[in-house]
Amino acid sequence: MVAKRRILLGVSGGIAAYKAAALTSTLVQRGDDVDVVMTAEAQRFVSSLTFASLTARPVYTSLWDLPERIPHIRLVREAQVALVVPATANLIAKLAAGIADDLLTAALLAARIPRILAPAMNEAMYEDPATQANISALRARGYEIVDPERGFLAERERGVGRLASEERILQALDRALARRLALKGKRVAITAGPTREAFDPVRFLSNASTGATGIELAREAALRGASVTLLLGPTQLEPPAGVTVVRIVTARELYEAALVHAVGADLVIATAAVADWRPAEHRDSKLSKSGEDLTVRLAPNPDVLAALGERKGSTFLVGFAAETDDHEAHARKKLRYKHLDAIAVNDVGGERGFGTGDNELVLLWGNDGRRELGRSDKKMLAARLLDAVEELMRCS
Ligand SMILES: Cc1cc2nc3c(=O)[nH]c(=O)nc-3n(C[C@H](O)[C@H](O)[C@H](O)COP(=O)(O)O)c2cc1C
Repeated sequence: MVAKRRILLGVSGGIAAYKAAALTSTLVQRGDDVDVVMTAEAQRFVSSLTFASLTARPVYTSLWDLPERIPHIRLVREAQVALVVPATANLIAKLAAGIADDLLTAALLAARIPRILAPAMNEAMYEDPATQANISALRARGYEIVDPERGFLAERERGVGRLASEERILQALDRALARRLALKGKRVAITAGPTREAFDPVRFLSNASTGATGIELAREAALRGASVTLLLGPTQLEPPAGVTVVRIVTARELYEAALVHAVGADLVIATAAVADWRPAEHRDSKLSKSGEDLTVRLAPNPDVLAALGERKGSTFLVGFAAETDDHEAHARKKLRYKHLDAIAVNDVGGERGFGTGDNELVLLWGNDGRRELGRSDKKMLAARLLDAVEELMRCS
């Protein structure tokens, strides 16, 4: 049975609000449940009665109608995607600034579901640097923008700013819904963060990984309906809500945890920066300063990824390669000898990679499969990586 789709449709105060009524009718006819939220200004253009009749559901217009039900949170928890048609310049500016002074802006700020905006406005309003900067800021935060088209505008002139066609809006909506449900029922394990290898009670070897990439992947996989276990090394970052977190400190602990939680999963993504060596001896008391050279002998750690590769079964196994030179050649070797299905190559030279907000990834698979995921913040890259991995899983 096809899962029932629940859409939160926001309508803000532009002339194209009448087109949101036609879109609502299309959605209802194809069997979607639509909760309509209107701004106060939207109700000057179209009556809430129109949407209530089309959806056979209440239309939400205020934070204060049923405050005991906390409508701005409930609505975005129950929906799978939030879509705003039309999105006014004013609404876009408020969202970019994080303002939440009415039901629609508060709900969108609280949303952990995909958010799609279809702007429509006068050409000068659209091209104003303020609007353009706001749209770019929202895009960077993961909003999808269905760009307006060039055509006849309400001012009886031609220009850019006309609401995108219903077909383009529906395509964006369906892409988001498909993504949202893509991992439903799947078990996903993700390793993240550094490991720490102690050589006395207060000193250890580690690296600069923050776990941000793995944390964002775990958040995104959970949003897409997966049941996610995050095996997380020592980091200051908070793990996402809705994910089972298993804390590890050393590579050997990660190895043991991976055998329990990652073997047999549908998808494993190994982003953890696991120490390849650990001090061969661990001292129980703190080593005192002596002024002499100190030699610490290192012993190899177990290879977590290779161990998962040996026990792969039907798991789709994705590794990460943090390289400083000859990236892709090294990564392809690792892909083969560790029996991975795909590997994301991460240049950790210079300013990129560990700890920084932005990153740049290339995904490699098979003999010559290659996709550039581009340079972006880690949240956006996590979404792009999962899009690509889901596509490969469907084909494998
Ligand atoms: C006749 C008329 C048409 C308007 N059309 C648009 C429009 O198409 N796009 C837009 O961004 N603003 C438009 N506006 C301005 C918005 O209605 C105004 O910025 C309002 O504060 C938006 O409120 P909201 O974003 O809370 O819905 C229009 C205003 C009027 C009076």
